[in-house]
Amino acid sequence: MTGSPLLEVTDLLIRYRAGLFAPRPKPAVNGASFRLERGTTLGIVGESGSGKTSLLRAILRLLPVESGAIRLEGRDWLALHGRALRRARQGIGVVSQNPFLSLSPRLTVAEILAEPMLAAGHRPGPQIRDRIAALLSDCGLPAAFLDRRARELSGGQAQRVAIARALALEPRLLVLDEPTSALDVSVQAQILNLLSDLRERHELSMLFVTHNLKVVAHVADSLLVMRRGDVVEFGPTEQVVHAPAQPYTRELLSFGVHSRTARKEPS
Ligand SMILES: Nc1ncnc2c1ncn2[C@@H]1O[C@H](COP(=O)(O)OP(=O)(O)O)[C@@H](O)[C@H]1O
Ligand SMILES: [Mg+2]
Repeated sequence: MTGSPLLEVTDLLIRYRAGLFAPRPKPAVNGASFRLERGTTLGIVGESGSGKTSLLRAILRLLPVESGAIRLEGRDWLALHGRALRRARQGIGVVSQNPFLSLSPRLTVAEILAEPMLAAGHRPGPQIRDRIAALLSDCGLPAAFLDRRARELSGGQAQRVAIARALALEPRLLVLDEPTSALDVSVQAQILNLLSDLRERHELSMLFVTHNLKVVAHVADSLLVMRRGDVVEFGPTEQVVHAPAQPYTRELLSFGVHSRTARKEPS
């Protein structure tokens, strides 16, 4: 592999604004640095409040950064604004925790999947219909689901539709914020398997945020461990899981019950 990483984040500092006369709050993300190589998955792990969502929102340019740099495909991602930013952002697919909040309940699955393509200027017609059916089947749902409404879906089915929608514009980067945390454990495993399959079939690059190290150790090539805004570890998954540099990571591993790799360790 040559060339620049897909995403490179350097010394990123994010701080929410307090009231005019309130003391400056401590940063939500305190100088994060990492890189995401093309076609790989980075797991971003940490307990609630560690800054994971803030980091993703800054990468999506939904939250301003105080200092630091973000390069996407070698370009200065923080320098884009307005129309150019909106167009470039269509190259990032987003999956959030609760599919029922992210999908309009009264729309049909076909309408939900068509929406990003229509918004990007594709003309309605048979090509879109075919593309939608292919997306859905890629995400493990038969075409019969196209006419269902979002509110009629189970949690797992709805998350499959949300993933299909995130892939509609063939994104160069897929960003997932706790994508399995709202699902039953059995369904979680199915969604993780789906993500692994998609990743291989489409050579996807993913940022996968979770508070559960066990969940992400299965799909991530590398891990970024965050605690109270600080990056406490960044390295290949095997290394972070087998030889964690920080006691905090060991704690997360034991909370995370057993990860596939951690289970090999003597208890
Ligand atoms: N909209 C907001 N306004 C002010 N502070 C926020 C806001 N959202 C998050 N925070 C704070 O930023 C920190 C990181 O939160 P967050 O990024 O949501 O963490 P995580 O996703 O890891 O749970 C926390 O201290 C949280 O209280
Ligand atoms: Mg969060």
